[in-house]
Amino acid sequence: MLATFALIGLLTASPAATAEDSTRPDVVIADFEGDDYGGWKADGHAFGDRPARGTLPGQMEVSGYLGRGLVNSFNGGDDATGTLTSPPFRIDRPYVNFLIGGGGFDGETCLNLSVDGRTVRTATGKNREGGGTEALRWDGWDVKDLAGKEATFQVVDCRKGGWGHINVDQIVLADASRKPAEAVRAIVLNHRYLHLPVHTGGPKTRMKFTIDGQTVREFDIELAEGKPDFWVFSDLKSYEGRTLKIHAGELADPKALDAITPSDEVPDAAGMYKEKHRPQFHFTSRRGWLNDPNGLVFDLGAAQGQGFDRGVIHLFYQHNPYGWNWGNMHWGHATTLDLVHWSEFPIAIYPHAYGDWAFSGSAVADVDNTGGFQKRGTPAPPLVAAYTSTGRGECIVFSSDRGQTWTEYKGNPVVKHNGRDPRLLWHAASKQWVMAVYDEGEKRQSIDFHTSPDLKTWTFASRLDGFFECPDLFELPVDGDPNKTLWVIYAADAKYKLGRFDGKTFHVESGPDKHTLWHGNFYAAQTFSEAPNSRRIQIGWGQGITFPGMPFNQQMALPVDLTLRTTPDGVRMFAAPVAELQSLRDAKHDFSNTTLEPGKNPLSGLSGDLFEVKLAAKPGAAEEIELNLRGTPVIYDVRRQDLVCKQIRTFLPLVDGELRLHVFLDKGSIEVFGGDGRVAVSVGVIPDDANHALGVASRGGAASLRTLEVYPLRSAWIKP
Ligand code: FRU
Repeated sequence: MLATFALIGLLTASPAATAEDSTRPDVVIADFEGDDYGGWKADGHAFGDRPARGTLPGQMEVSGYLGRGLVNSFNGGDDATGTLTSPPFRIDRPYVNFLIGGGGFDGETCLNLSVDGRTVRTATGKNREGGGTEALRWDGWDVKDLAGKEATFQVVDCRKGGWGHINVDQIVLADASRKPAEAVRAIVLNHRYLHLPVHTGGPKTRMKFTIDGQTVREFDIELAEGKPDFWVFSDLKSYEGRTLKIHAGELADPKALDAITPSDEVPDAAGMYKEKHRPQFHFTSRRGWLNDPNGLVFDLGAAQGQGFDRGVIHLFYQHNPYGWNWGNMHWGHATTLDLVHWSEFPIAIYPHAYGDWAFSGSAVADVDNTGGFQKRGTPAPPLVAAYTSTGRGECIVFSSDRGQTWTEYKGNPVVKHNGRDPRLLWHAASKQWVMAVYDEGEKRQSIDFHTSPDLKTWTFASRLDGFFECPDLFELPVDGDPNKTLWVIYAADAKYKLGRFDGKTFHVESGPDKHTLWHGNFYAAQTFSEAPNSRRIQIGWGQGITFPGMPFNQQMALPVDLTLRTTPDGVRMFAAPVAELQSLRDAKHDFSNTTLEPGKNPLSGLSGDLFEVKLAAKPGAAEEIELNLRGTPVIYDVRRQDLVCKQIRTFLPLVDGELRLHVFLDKGSIEVFGGDGRVAVSVGVIPDDANHALGVASRGGAASLRTLEVYPLRSAWIKP
C-alpha cells in the first residue's frame, strides 16, 4: 500500500547558536535557590522577602522551575503587587535565557531588561483568561546589540485580578538561545482532514498552515504535548494533493506536531453523537465550541425539484473548531429539513485573517436579486449574509451554492462603526433592506437601523438606546390577526419591547420596561428569515450549558414558534416548541384525568433518559407540584405562583386556574415552557448516570391532573 501521507521533514528549528565557543558554561545571573533574594531588591508585597519554594497557597500547581526556588509574585494572591530589581550586571554573552510563567499582560506582569534606565527587552507569561497553566517555559532574548552594556532586570507585577502574577526562574547569560523556536512540519495532503490533539487548559499555541508560502489557516490551539483530551480537525479538502506546512510557535516539545494525523474521516466518526453526554435532540457541533446561532434562513430555492416542501433550513453558528472554549470565531454550518434532524457541514465562513474573527450575523434570501449577486447559471434566489468581521466592520457575503460556500462582496465592509451583530431583513412596506445592528458609545448601548436598496450601500436611519448585542427585529400578528400586528425589537439577553417600525425608526409602544420571555441558560437568539406560512421560528444559544470531558461544548436551545398574545398584563410574546419535535416521540404514557395524592408518584414505573412531559393541573389543595426528571426537580410554588428549576425562580401565572407545563429533558438540559409558552426556561443539567427515574408529586394536598402525558423521545441523530 502506498504511504498515506508523506512526512517531508520535521524541522525542529535548532536554537540559534552562533557562539564562537559554545562550550562555555552559562553565566547564572540568578537561580533563586538562596534563602533570600541576595542583591535583588523587592518592593511591594507580591514577591515577599525571599524566593518562593514552588506553589503558593491558593495557586494552581506551579511546575517547570529548576531546583527548589523561583520568583513567584502570587505572594498574597493575584491582587498583591510589587517589583523585584536586580543589581547591575554586564552583558557579555549573546543571549539571555530564563524560565517564565504566569500572567500574560504587557507591562503589568513581566520581566524587563533595562539599559541606561530604559526598558530594552520585555517578556510576559502566557495566561490572560481563566484556565491556563502555571508551568514555566524557556524564553529569552538575543542581546548581541547590547554587548558590553551594564543592565538590570526587573520583575514587575502591577496587575490585580485573574492571572495578576508572574513567575520567573533561572536567568542566565548564554551562548545559545533556549527559546523554543518555531516548529514546522510538512505534509502532502492526500486526505481530507488533519486531526489535531487538544489538551484543554494547556498552553495556547498559535498555529499556521501555509501552502506555497500563503497562509490558508491560522488559529490558536491548546495543542496537547502529552495525552490529548480529544481530537479536533481541520478540513483541507480544497487543497488535496498540495504540500501543507504546519507552523507552530513556542511548543515546549516540537515533536508534538508529529501527533497531527491525516484522515479521510472526522475524529471518532463511528462514535459520533453517541458520546456519554451528547445531547440527543439539541444541536451541538461535532467538535469544539459553539455560541450564537447565525444566519438562520429557510432556503426555499433549494426545495425546487427536490421534493422538500420547505426547502433546506440553515443554521450557522459561532464556532471554535479547534478548542473546547470560546475563541477563533468561525461560522459553523448545519442544515435540517424538519428543524429536528441536523447534518453538520464544513465551516461556512473562515476568519478573514488571524485575529479578524467572523462574529455574529444573519442571512436572507435575496428573492429579487436586488444585490445582483445571482450570476447567470447559479440557482435562485441567492443567499446573502451579513456578519461582523472584527478587524473590518459589517461585511456582506453571498452564496450561489445553497449556503455551502460564501464569497465576500468586494465593497466590504459595508458599515463601519463601533458595534457588531448585523440583522438583515426585507421591509416590505418601504421596499428596502434594513440592518438592525448593535452599536456602542462610551456610555451607550444601542441598536442602530440602516437601510439599503441592494444590501451593498447602507444609510444610517435611526438609533434606539438601551439594548445590548445581537438584535433581532420582526413583525408578528397579535392573537393571530394579520390585520393587527406589532413589531418586536429583541436583543441577546432575551428581553424585548413591542411597537411600530416604519422601515427607519422603531417607535416603542410597550412602555419603558422590557419584557422577558426566556430565562436561564439562554442567550443571543435569532429568528429564521424566509420561514414559510408566516412562522417566526427562533433558536437561541443555551449559553453556559457545558459538557465537561466531552469533545464539544455548549448547545443550541430547541427551536420554538413565537407568537404575540393578549394577556391580562398586555400583549406578550409566547414560545412553543416547534410541532416538528413530535416526530421524536415514542409511545405515549397517559396519566390524564387523575387525582395526584401527596406521597403518590404515578410515574414511578417509567425509566429512561430523554423525555417530553405535558402537564395541566388544577392545584386544588396542593402547595407545591413537582416534576422530577432524573433527579432534577421542576417545582411549582402554588402560593407564590413561581416556577422553580435549578438557578431559576420566575413568576408563572395560572391559566384558567391551571398550571400548564411542557417539559423536555435531554442529556445536558431541561427546557420548561410554562403557561402555554408565556414563560420559557432553559437550564443545564448533567443528570446522575445511574438515575433514570421520573417523578411527579403533590405536597400539602391533592392536585387534579387534567393532562399528564409522558413521551420517551428518540435520538434525533438517528435519521428517520
Ligand atoms: C454574543 C456575542 C456577539 C458576538 C459573538 C462573538 O454572544 O458576544 O455579540 O458577535 O458573541 O462570538
